[in-house]
Amino acid sequence: MITHHNHVFCLSTACTSYVFRVEEAGHLEHLHYGKRLCLGTDGASAMTQRHSSLPSATIAYSPGTPNLSMELLRGEISTLGKGDFGDPFIDLEFSDGSRTCDFLFDSWEILNEKPMNKELPCALSPGQARGNTLRIRMKEANGRKLVLYLYYTVYEDCDVILRSTRLENHGTEPVIVRRLLSSQIDFDDSDYIFTNFHGSWTSEMHKSMTPCTGKTLVSETRLGFSSNRSNPFVMLSRPCCTETSGEVYGSNLIYSGNHRECAQSGELSRLRFSTGIQPEGFSWLLKPKDRFTAPEAVLSFSSEGFGRLSRNYHDFIRNYILRGIWAHRPRPVLINSWEAAYFDFDEEKLLHLAGAAHDAGIELFVLDDGWFGKRKNTKTSMGDWVCNYEKLPHGIEGLSARIHNMGMQFGIWVEPEAVSVDSDLFRAHPDWSLAVPGQPNSEGRNTRLLDFCNPEVIDYLYHALCRVFSCGVDYVKWDMNRGISDCYSPFLPKEQQGETGHRFLLGLYSLLKRLTDRFPDILFESCASGGNRADLGMLCYMPQFWASDNSDALCRQQIQTNYSYGYPLSVLGCHVSSIPNHQTLRETPIATRYEVAAFGILGYELDICRLRADELEDIQEQIRHYKKLRNWIMDADLYRIQTGENGHYCLMEVSKDQLTGAVMTLQELLQPGSPIRILKTRGLKDNALYHLVSRPAMMNVKPMKGRFASLSSDDPAAGFVRMPRETEDYTLYGDLLNHGGIRLKSDFNGHNLDEDTRYYIDYSTRFYDIELVKE
Ligand code: GLA
Repeated sequence: MITHHNHVFCLSTACTSYVFRVEEAGHLEHLHYGKRLCLGTDGASAMTQRHSSLPSATIAYSPGTPNLSMELLRGEISTLGKGDFGDPFIDLEFSDGSRTCDFLFDSWEILNEKPMNKELPCALSPGQARGNTLRIRMKEANGRKLVLYLYYTVYEDCDVILRSTRLENHGTEPVIVRRLLSSQIDFDDSDYIFTNFHGSWTSEMHKSMTPCTGKTLVSETRLGFSSNRSNPFVMLSRPCCTETSGEVYGSNLIYSGNHRECAQSGELSRLRFSTGIQPEGFSWLLKPKDRFTAPEAVLSFSSEGFGRLSRNYHDFIRNYILRGIWAHRPRPVLINSWEAAYFDFDEEKLLHLAGAAHDAGIELFVLDDGWFGKRKNTKTSMGDWVCNYEKLPHGIEGLSARIHNMGMQFGIWVEPEAVSVDSDLFRAHPDWSLAVPGQPNSEGRNTRLLDFCNPEVIDYLYHALCRVFSCGVDYVKWDMNRGISDCYSPFLPKEQQGETGHRFLLGLYSLLKRLTDRFPDILFESCASGGNRADLGMLCYMPQFWASDNSDALCRQQIQTNYSYGYPLSVLGCHVSSIPNHQTLRETPIATRYEVAAFGILGYELDICRLRADELEDIQEQIRHYKKLRNWIMDADLYRIQTGENGHYCLMEVSKDQLTGAVMTLQELLQPGSPIRILKTRGLKDNALYHLVSRPAMMNVKPMKGRFASLSSDDPAAGFVRMPRETEDYTLYGDLLNHGGIRLKSDFNGHNLDEDTRYYIDYSTRFYDIELVKE
């Protein structure tokens, strides 16, 4: 709901309010963002900043407003040059060389429909609600003939306020836009913790929490894509915030490029929290009559801790970011050829793999890198999107037909932004890649990047990829394995080179739009060396992303748990791979590998033809289990019960109707003498009766052989001695499950091993299925 009274604007969601007003000189003064409140008659004036006199060294805005300092005003935006010394929201360079500017309120309008940007990915309109968007028009105060629009869209159901910004040049002179951010919130104090998620290849999403007082904290990337170095999702919380209580704000950008999130504590300990395109390396020549639009920022607030904030984002992403036929549809279980074969395959080997996968219940076969041009390794052929007939004599079409005949779907890998110097494409069009003319080029994974600023390149790729995707393709893994270096577009004039990074993305988005419109049935998965492009921009085109190239169950548990702060697990591709794991050489039980993957989108990435019969049986059982789970887990509510404290994880999903639930737990390393384990759920109906049962699975107890008579094996040389895991099976009321908890069977203590002992050793998991019996 949006209300307006005497130039005070109040945007309300189910549990939050966002309030600002037009102050007397015409700036927008931020009054409140947080718990929902009722302004009443005196509310706005009570929250308005008092300006009785200015502290020394602050700047008075104008002779007519001697007590107004831009540095002390909590602004909805901030500019340079009028006394605000904080991080600016907007930075413009005019043709006279000056950078001072000042935007004042001009008018407002409530729009019935949220505007949809045609060039950038953006959130869908909030359902049928009319009047969901407030548009504020501001004019540059000193005759520059610039108009700034601020948009605020209210998503009541998931407590989200969406902000975006547009600048229009109504003058006759060009203006250089050095920065135009997406959101800014000025808080009264800086007693907050800034949380960002940083990492590197195979090590994504490390959670870092830093107190804000007295600092400028920045989470940013300059790689050209949103990147694993710093995901665009960040949080700002009160120090006492926990999973279930306390105040926390979140922000994410609907953008896949360089971004910057900043929490800056300033004069009088205030805190400015701003998000948007990374200004470093960016500039935009805004010609007369042109407009520039900044990406949308997704803001949310929870007074019930991190858990609630995450569920707000999960609902928002599922309802307003994902689109197309796959948005809410359970995804097929896939097998990917990469870790099974790398570049070393031919048609026969692939069909073998697909056949064994099909027997296990897998539904989609994905052919990864190596199928095109003369590709044998990473050194060649990127850009030549034509089949390698030496490896695949019947072409992609022939392979796809054979896979379809087995009763499976067929998927393929591409990396359209990259080009190898050793490729027909590069030989034909050396000027189609990003490069500084006459300078040596730096390559990444032996590739350059195509110049996505050039519409001819986009057109070429559109047609080349249409040919590939028309060969019976049901799924596409869209990869991107390098950042932007040598950032220079041969297509753009020299005064527009600062636009290259952003225009590269506009080119990418236009290509994705055309391809996803042309192939609405194809399921697309975003990948960028794992999680280098795990962002809301890509999720507008592709309803899932490959979360990390690291498929080690232990690492994955941490990575996935941390993604879950800002993204639903139902958009994460999660694969069971072989042991020793290819990234860490660690060996984890197959039950663990499955149970870590099961809350995400399940896939297998191993040579299934080499598995023992008992492992194949386990996989068949896993897939049967997952096929029931995936029907409700796509839209479920996630509860993080333990997030790695002392090596313990416990996550729980509960269906929206609270009829079904699942809990998974993981232990990193066994610590002898650990306290009694209690399984306490969250999110179930207190008054309803539920059945909770542990998922049956087999364990390898070979290390215990010889010590316990109960353990025997028909084959003394076998690497495995199998024993079923302990069973937990209860019918209990939700209040007992939520607030009392189940005392689980006691852990192995060195003495006995039987069905009443939990053999919960290093890297073990457990999985509990819950179903409502009666209300
Ligand atoms: C990237 C991806 C992997 C795989 C390889 C193929 O590293 O993240 O999953 O597709 O490329 O080259």
